[in-house]
Amino acid sequence: MKVFIVYCHPSEDSFTKNMCDAFIRGITDSGNEYILSDLYRMGFQTDMTEEEYLRDANYRNTPDVAEDVLAEQKKINSADAIAFIYPVFWTEAPAKLVGWFDRVWSYGFAYGDEMTMKVLDKAIILCSAGNPIERLEEFGLLDSMKKVMLGDRLFGRAKQMEFIVFDNTSREFEFREKNWDRNLQKAYEIGKAFL
Ligand SMILES: Cc1cc2nc3c(=O)[nH]c(=O)nc-3n(C[C@H](O)[C@H](O)[C@H](O)COP(=O)(O)O)c2cc1C
Repeated sequence: MKVFIVYCHPSEDSFTKNMCDAFIRGITDSGNEYILSDLYRMGFQTDMTEEEYLRDANYRNTPDVAEDVLAEQKKINSADAIAFIYPVFWTEAPAKLVGWFDRVWSYGFAYGDEMTMKVLDKAIILCSAGNPIERLEEFGLLDSMKKVMLGDRLFGRAKQMEFIVFDNTSREFEFREKNWDRNLQKAYEIGKAFL
């Protein structure tokens, strides 16, 4: 089985990078495969062009999809599952990942009458949040993040979906270091049991 990992963090010096590595170790230790898109390292273009906007907004299923978008779409359709790994930025995914969805979830692929995107067996979101979970639950912030990812972006595109938050990972909290090993072990176990 194969998982396509969409990883998005600007720095290697981060909890999120370590979490991604631990998840990957779990995947390979369970005898499974992965493909990785490291969006910052790839310099993935995440602003829609005007042409892309006009194509998608007018529901035009034309063949002029950009090569970098097609490459991402091929990775999706070659996998059994998808994983998104990122830090929470302002109660959302980083803008780079949001832009990835804007472009890669194109008309005719991820929506429309004749979608070519396969329905994946599984989708998982692993995100790190600086704040404690109680803070994220206040005002329904956690719920908003889940609703956007699971109820909109992934809705109907995977048979099983899971959203996991690693909280308290801010550099200002002692919990970051205190929970470090346990959190990475958790990410490893999640990877090992995922496929
Ligand atoms: C621009 C920016 C916005 C952030 N917004 C949030 C937020 O809305 N909620 C939250 O819990 N943490 C927020 N954080 C904290 C990140 O999620 C934090 O970088 C991460 O949890 C720590 O892990 P890292 O070492 O992988 O970056 C933000 C950080 C940055 C840099």
